Amino acid sequence: MNVLLLGSGAREHAFAWKLAQSPLLKELYIAPGNAGTEEFGENINIKATDFPAIKKLVKEKSINMVLVGPEDPLVAGIYDYFINDADLKNVPVIGPSKAGAQLEGSKDFAKAFMQKYKIPTARYQTFTKDTLEEGYKFLENLNAPYVLKADGLAAGKGVVISPTLDAAKIELNEMLINAKFGNASSKVVIEEFLKGIELSVFVLTDGNSYKILPAAKDYKRIGDNDTGLNTGGMGAVSPVPFADEVFLKKVEEKIVVPTINGLKKENITYKGFIFIGLMNVNGDPFVIEYNVRMGDPETEVVLPRIESDLLDILVAVSKGKLKEKEITITPKTALALVLVSGGYPGDYEKGFEVVGLNEVENSIVFHAGTIKKDTDILTNGGRVITITSLGDTIKEARDKAYFDADTVNFIGKYHRNDIGLDLMKIAAQKV
Ligand code: AMP
Ligand code: GLY
Repeated sequence: MNVLLLGSGAREHAFAWKLAQSPLLKELYIAPGNAGTEEFGENINIKATDFPAIKKLVKEKSINMVLVGPEDPLVAGIYDYFINDADLKNVPVIGPSKAGAQLEGSKDFAKAFMQKYKIPTARYQTFTKDTLEEGYKFLENLNAPYVLKADGLAAGKGVVISPTLDAAKIELNEMLINAKFGNASSKVVIEEFLKGIELSVFVLTDGNSYKILPAAKDYKRIGDNDTGLNTGGMGAVSPVPFADEVFLKKVEEKIVVPTINGLKKENITYKGFIFIGLMNVNGDPFVIEYNVRMGDPETEVVLPRIESDLLDILVAVSKGKLKEKEITITPKTALALVLVSGGYPGDYEKGFEVVGLNEVENSIVFHAGTIKKDTDILTNGGRVITITSLGDTIKEARDKAYFDADTVNFIGKYHRNDIGLDLMKIAAQKV
């Protein structure tokens, strides 16, 4: 079958890598893709949100399935666009309907959904510019630090954690009155701060049944020991030692099952991935956020641990037959290390040659912000390369990834030096 994969990050390179292993795959097209995805298919230079151009491509290339990497096309309603078009309605889109994508597209929607279906999450209230004063009062009744979330998509920057009440009030004013995040902050969710360790659990659903995929921990800040600015993600590890069987059972019973049942009760069509960002608070899971797609760099550690044929599973999702499938997961640990451009997540230069990619022997190299010029690979984004290694222990995976990270070079290359170290300590305590 012919598959169209939408997106251009290391997540999409990892999807392309995995799909290419399937005997069911005939042609793979990636829009727009990057210098790495070209290895497994044809890059087509159209935006993942340009639905008419996607329609033309789907007809031209006889596409049989569309797999959506990033959230924007989902929130913009690509699923509904296909279902409502006579020419496209028989081409399955892996991803939620526009209504389902609200779980990521609107924090207010997600919180109300969790409240309605009694899914554990931080206490919250939502405010608009007309209820600014009530917002200040709500803040006064919470303890520091204060969590403020722009309702809509804000390129991963819409969550602000303010250390003091005064700072939180200024922030609320900035978001609601001065439209700090444009229309995305015309509504703001204020919620209780949860203290614990974060991790992400990934679920694949066909709307009826579900499979829980490997859990992962992401490292979001730019600096070692979680310091500095937030990024898209600087590394990831799967599995997560503190997410043991008892904890994951709680996640399934208290979060996954009520989420799937809630979607059904709301008549929301959802055939795709659900990324559940969780806080482990003294052994109990609380939802921090839903995303309606896979994570990046989490995908780069989740997919290498899946031994089953992903395309076969996605076909089952599209047909509502996920229940009939088994997903086999390797017990090995996967560790991903992200190499970024100097200056990221602030300003950075592009266009530097990336060298040493072919010398990597022990790891999988996933491209993110790269572009091919003649035979050279050039940097073309903040996150440039993800190096993923597998090992019997976190240490083994980590040693390989860091060894191979040294062989890949470009001007301004930066990576964190502490990916996985915290989890090694936790794993040592558990033995
Ligand atoms: P998000 O953009 O929703 O992933 O949020 C960004 C980060 O803010 C999360 O990864 C958490 O570290 C943090 N965060 C969000 N909500 C809370 C909360 N209620 N309590 C503590 N930290 C939070
Ligand atoms: N790594 C976090 C995300 O993909 O949203």
